[in-house]
Amino acid sequence: GKVAVLLGGSSAEREISLMSGRGVLAALQSRGVDAHAFDPSTRDLSELKRDGFQRVFIALHGRHGEDGSVQGALELLRIPYTGSGVMASAIAMDKVMTKRVWLAEGLSTPRFAWLAPGEHGAGRVRTISDELGLPLIVKPPREGSSIGISKVVGYSDMQAAVELAARYDPDVLCEEFIDGDEVTCALIGQGASARALPVVKIEAPEGAYDYQNKYFTDVVTYRCPAGLPEAEEQAIASLALKAYRTLGCRGWGRADLMIRRSDRKPFLLEMNTSPGMTTHSLVPMSAKAAGIPYEQLCVELLIGATL
Ligand code: DAL
Ligand code: MG
Repeated sequence: GKVAVLLGGSSAEREISLMSGRGVLAALQSRGVDAHAFDPSTRDLSELKRDGFQRVFIALHGRHGEDGSVQGALELLRIPYTGSGVMASAIAMDKVMTKRVWLAEGLSTPRFAWLAPGEHGAGRVRTISDELGLPLIVKPPREGSSIGISKVVGYSDMQAAVELAARYDPDVLCEEFIDGDEVTCALIGQGASARALPVVKIEAPEGAYDYQNKYFTDVVTYRCPAGLPEAEEQAIASLALKAYRTLGCRGWGRADLMIRRSDRKPFLLEMNTSPGMTTHSLVPMSAKAAGIPYEQLCVELLIGATL
């Protein structure tokens, strides 16, 4: 039957989604799938039903794509879609809510505080930096691709970082900075049969793993296999898998983590429920290392589409 690849959308990550979606579309077509591009920013999702689409591959990133809203619309239309359902998508889109769930389950994630709208004043900002210490990472909790993120090393930079994050989200997340190795772990499947793919280690000059360098340059080096001791790779995969199951994710996802330099303890930063599928993206890299070519990954995710 006809398959729609949802791409583009209206979030701040629109450009990235167009790259992911075009890649997925070409991959599915190369394997004989009757796949078509569908951009929800220009068309109403109800047209999927009218036009006879029987399955959807969600290659949208960010709000109104990765956050449960599109998933909810597809539930109502009764069209199976790739990836997590409404609840897991909604929780994972929100880094604050995600951390609360992980903490409740005893999974390690950096200490944090959040600023609600109206709490962005100097007094509260100062209290947070006193409580958590510096450096701090300041982020909009419902964004992706490093948009609106700052690392704050001195008090004087704190207010500007909060204001930048607040341009993208009325709530602002302030998180303890974990100095160490940045790694990511892709996950596929559901519940007890979910499994981790090989860990990817991200090596970038200090502060350089940002929006531009994630997608448009070759400044960043990615290692997969990660070259970590076997026990460490295992610990990362096991934590990532727990993080995925705890949120109720299905289909696929990607956990981003830091490994603390001092004691090699892994900390969960976030879960991506509609990970990037661009030429620079990490899930395709990890799948390739596991012997799964990009085209096959796309087909398998599509086969796993559910309601
Ligand atoms: N948010 C981007 C697309 C990612 O996590 O890959
Ligand atoms: Mg993300």
